[in-house]
Amino acid sequence: MNELKYPDILVTDLTENQAAEELEILAALIAYHDELYYLKDAPEISDSDYDALRQRNQAIEARFPNLVRADSPSKRVGIAPKTGFSKVQHDTPMLSLDNAFEPQDLADFITRTRRFLGLGEATIVEVVAEPKIDGLSASLTYQNGQLVRAATRGDGEVGEDITANVHTITDIPTSLKQNPTPEHIEIRGEIYMHGDDFNQLNAARERAGESLLANPRNAAAGSVRQLDVSVTAQRPLKFFAYGCGEIPADIALVTHEELMAQLINWGFPVNPMIQVCKDMQGIQQFYDELTIARPTLGYDIDGTVYKINRLDWQQRLGRVARSPRWAIAYKFPPEQGQTVLESIQIQVGRTGALTPVAHLKPLTIGGVVVSRATLHNQDELQRKDIRAGDTVVIQRAGDVIPQVVAVVKDLRPADAQPYQFPDHCPICDSLAVRKSGEAVTRCTGGLVCPAQAALRLYYFVSKHAFDIEGLGLKHMEMFYHEGLLQTPVDLFRLQQRDANSENPLAKREGWGDKSAQNLFQAIEARRSISLDRFIYALGISQVGQTIAKLLAYTYGSFAKWRSALEQAALDAESEAYLELVAIEGIGASIAGDLLDFIREPHNQQVLDQLAQELEIQDLARPEITDSPIMGKTVVFTGKLTAFSRAEAKSRAENLGAKVASAVSPKTDYLVVGEKPGSKAKKAQELGIPVLSEQEWLKVISDQ
Ligand code: IVH
Repeated sequence: MNELKYPDILVTDLTENQAAEELEILAALIAYHDELYYLKDAPEISDSDYDALRQRNQAIEARFPNLVRADSPSKRVGIAPKTGFSKVQHDTPMLSLDNAFEPQDLADFITRTRRFLGLGEATIVEVVAEPKIDGLSASLTYQNGQLVRAATRGDGEVGEDITANVHTITDIPTSLKQNPTPEHIEIRGEIYMHGDDFNQLNAARERAGESLLANPRNAAAGSVRQLDVSVTAQRPLKFFAYGCGEIPADIALVTHEELMAQLINWGFPVNPMIQVCKDMQGIQQFYDELTIARPTLGYDIDGTVYKINRLDWQQRLGRVARSPRWAIAYKFPPEQGQTVLESIQIQVGRTGALTPVAHLKPLTIGGVVVSRATLHNQDELQRKDIRAGDTVVIQRAGDVIPQVVAVVKDLRPADAQPYQFPDHCPICDSLAVRKSGEAVTRCTGGLVCPAQAALRLYYFVSKHAFDIEGLGLKHMEMFYHEGLLQTPVDLFRLQQRDANSENPLAKREGWGDKSAQNLFQAIEARRSISLDRFIYALGISQVGQTIAKLLAYTYGSFAKWRSALEQAALDAESEAYLELVAIEGIGASIAGDLLDFIREPHNQQVLDQLAQELEIQDLARPEITDSPIMGKTVVFTGKLTAFSRAEAKSRAENLGAKVASAVSPKTDYLVVGEKPGSKAKKAQELGIPVLSEQEWLKVISDQ
């Protein structure tokens, strides 16, 4: 969330330009996080932060339907399965569980069940209570006792075929032990990883310089979904069976409890904590006992699950939408622990956001060693007054990145100093700026900052910028890390570098002679670029297509634009500054971003280099010759309803008119909206034509 450009601006306050920019970043960010989550099983953000990204995307699109992008995240859910895994249609859908949030919800669950089945108060409704294992669910199909297919849950209807991977998990029998052997049965359960095994795996990854996995659940999911089965085989995966798809007709079972016993007989591990509860007291007691046992289990559980014991009742209860009526989950509150915060360090995100991260004396929460926690932003740090040396309360909930909940002030060392948030980027040393009204501090060295480089380069070649096809975000990341592309100017040196490289593009997987040549040609074709595209490509905060065009029209040439900004940056009273803020559509805020950009020496260097490699074409405002309002002076007054004031002005100017703010004898037309004030009176006195919005529209649509 921190990485958005305008994270704190309400969607209703975004300008169209800002909205377009934000949607572009959101598309790239959501695609990036989808890939981490779905394909790499290594999310960097919590589920709720991810949901917030999607919600913001949706809200902006709802407000600006004309800005919905072809690659909008709203047009797809998740991501296509990894290539290599074939799809599997589940015989019976794999449902999810309804959630209880307080004890009363559990009592209501029992009451609902009674009502639905028409049971009296005297009838005992037995419930099987189980731990809710925090792993990934799997469906295992046995045909005549042999494991023939294993699948992930996927979207509940269609999953991925992980048969080969599952064959490497020793907890899962390849053939059912003991009779009776049903002809066909689908066993369901959870694949998970022990906390100790997860810690060891991460320690080994750290030694090998590999990225760390977020938690045991992601580690388990990532380990199962490996195209190379030998990798899965090395991972310490475990399994608990907790049910089956359809109860086979050739097996006599009356209760879920009996099914669990049968699963054990067939050779499946079934969780030893599972209990039958006869009433609400038993249900509550199970929850309390499990809360106490939880830290000692050695694997993550995120709550309890209660299932109606009688299978015929389960059958009758059926399901509502995506969850069965016969089961309910009750989640635990997040787990907490205390430790010492050793230091606060700054991470720089892909859009330049500086995020403080707490480095902790490692502590174990729920079997997982935690050594880092997010501190969100400067305000959060100040509000909680978190300091290096403090003892802090850490919280870890499921797959959420650990958080610092509070400081134990009584344990604060006497010499602990308040944290000073940096004013320079710790990665590239460029100025870091926090604009008024924003929570996020950002590095201004966008074009050179290693943390931002890949996204910036991607932006630089995007459709409305240099429009170079064939370079995705992934390529940018790879080329950046290889040192092939570091700043935009390297694009124009790519062909030459590639020719001298030991690993030329043409020889790489997924490339080839033709696509490498196409890319080089596309880059060459863009050595000549129009000034507005050039300005847009620089990715300056708030400078979208429209602002870039305005700047290009105003200054006409690269040299004039650059020197005007340089002068304006030196002196806020200079004519250059006044001219900049006077451009219709550019106020002090956008001017501030432009000047932050130009003040940064690294950016100046990139501009020098680009100017040498490129031919940046001058841009003149299009000449309008046959406009009915060419050369006329127009004044708008009152509340306009057909268009915004900015749009009205811009359309008039595009048709060659001058827009003034006060009525004078030089005024040719006064256009009045609702509730016109004194201007209308003055115009009448001067005999100047006064037009309604409709009349004005007619005048300008004549041409
Ligand atoms: S029963 C229709 N029992 O929780 C209900 N699920 O939100 C089928 N889970 O996708 C699931 N432990 O991965 C059931 N003892 C348990 C479970 C359990 C973990 C997971 C399962 C499912 C999710 C439901």
